[in-house]
Amino acid sequence: MSEETPAVPALAVLVSGRGSNLAAIFRGIERGELHARVTLVISSRADAPALDIARQHGAETRVIAPKSFASRVEAGAAIIAALQEAHVQAVALAGYKPILDASVVEAYPNRILNVHPSLLPAFAGGMAPRPQADALAAGVKVSGCTVHIVTADVDAGPIVAQAAVPVLDDDTVESLSARILAEEHRLLPLALEWLLSGRLSIEHGHTWLAPVSPRQA
Ligand code: GRF
Repeated sequence: MSEETPAVPALAVLVSGRGSNLAAIFRGIERGELHARVTLVISSRADAPALDIARQHGAETRVIAPKSFASRVEAGAAIIAALQEAHVQAVALAGYKPILDASVVEAYPNRILNVHPSLLPAFAGGMAPRPQADALAAGVKVSGCTVHIVTADVDAGPIVAQAAVPVLDDDTVESLSARILAEEHRLLPLALEWLLSGRLSIEHGHTWLAPVSPRQA
């Protein structure tokens, strides 16, 4: 590798289900909008469709099911070992259901991003479609998604990016979820690019985005 070619950062993606956000990450890479390579996809479930998406893109996959470990700490140790083996610089939680053990968060401080289908801090906690259903039940007129840094407190880490969508009078959980999901697919690869390119500063629970330098533009 020549000195002029910066190494492409290695990314791990943690999934549990459908994997549409994982697919959006691969799309971002293919379009040249996200400068990363997915070196590892970890699923908490062996039957997650996201694993097929990972394999179709040639990514290494691992199933680390928390229920096959005696404790969350032990599952966390297995995750840390896999991440270290894959030499990842950052981690994306893309529809990952289990709560990560604090040891994983400590091993990758400010290097783990999660996407949540509400405008945090509203409707924190709970997996999709719970936040979308809660937004409908509360009668809010605007909802959306949030990409945030993962800390030991669930859905409470520094906010990196948010996108709002209208809540329509005739919305169902499905129609609102679909509108929010389209924004998740746009925002997660973008926020990962900000993190991996070193544009994000994180301090006192807030994040700042540095302008693109002329060399990067
Ligand atoms: C997304 O709505 C995400 O915000 C939430 O779970 C859903 C996962 O969808 N955490 P997918 O597996 O990425 O399609």
